[in-house]
Amino acid sequence: MAETDGPERICLGPHDLLAGRNSVAITVRGYHLLLVRDGERIVAAERACPHEGADLSLGQCVGGRLLCPRHLASFDLRDGSVSPGWSFRALRLFEIESASDGLWLRMK
Ligand code: FES
Repeated sequence: MAETDGPERICLGPHDLLAGRNSVAITVRGYHLLLVRDGERIVAAERACPHEGADLSLGQCVGGRLLCPRHLASFDLRDGSVSPGWSFRALRLFEIESASDGLWLRMK
């Protein structure tokens, strides 16, 4: 489980946490999140789709977008915005910092 360092910056573990995978589900302070590789960047997102709660760890990340497996809406991994034609809120994203001592999550 994650180690904490202050109220907002949380150590997730080593740089190879994704270990060649495109995503991995994690739980931090009771929040179910998904770490997603987007090219060279790693981002954390809430794991439940904001539409009807589908598990986004079962979706795919393609071209900077995370695809929901249930109704196929997709989310922009830069700002969480949902694909055109949907009217629910954006996916919540959290910044991941890659530091010399590992990956850190910033929760707001
Ligand atoms: S549950 Fe994700 S788009 Fe409907």
